[in-house]
Amino acid sequence: MPHDRRRRFGGPDLKGVTGKRPVAWLERVIVEPDKLAADKDPIRLGLMKQYGGEMPNLGISRKDAKKIIAYLQNVSRARLLRVPPRPPVRHRNPWRPW
Ligand code: HEM
Repeated sequence: MPHDRRRRFGGPDLKGVTGKRPVAWLERVIVEPDKLAADKDPIRLGLMKQYGGEMPNLGISRKDAKKIIAYLQNVSRARLLRVPPRPPVRHRNPWRPW
């Protein structure tokens, strides 16, 4: 994945991105990243410099972009709600039940 969490590939980690950027901007970077650069959007230009690469225009429709954003919002929320791991269950020895 281009947005691998460990940054093995080009793009930034998208987890939590919905808290950092306005929805309208996310929609644009997904649907028409080339136009954002053409408009000299400062966030976009900064990211391109930082990552030394450019998010390609993948021909994603506005409708699909909205679904992707909804998914990313859920991923961020799931992180907040994550249930802490339970300690291992210790089984009692039936021959020495104390
Ligand atoms: C469904 C597919 C994709 C989605 C939803 C997506 C989404 C995004 C978003 C939301 C950002 C802005 C991140 C931020 O504000 O921190 C971004 C930036 C970026 N993406 Fe993607 N991306 C996709 C596919 C790709 C692909 C295929 C590549 C590379 C081959 C790529 C490379 C990059 C790079 C290099 C950036 C940072 C520089 C820039 O903004 O152009 N992405 N992407």
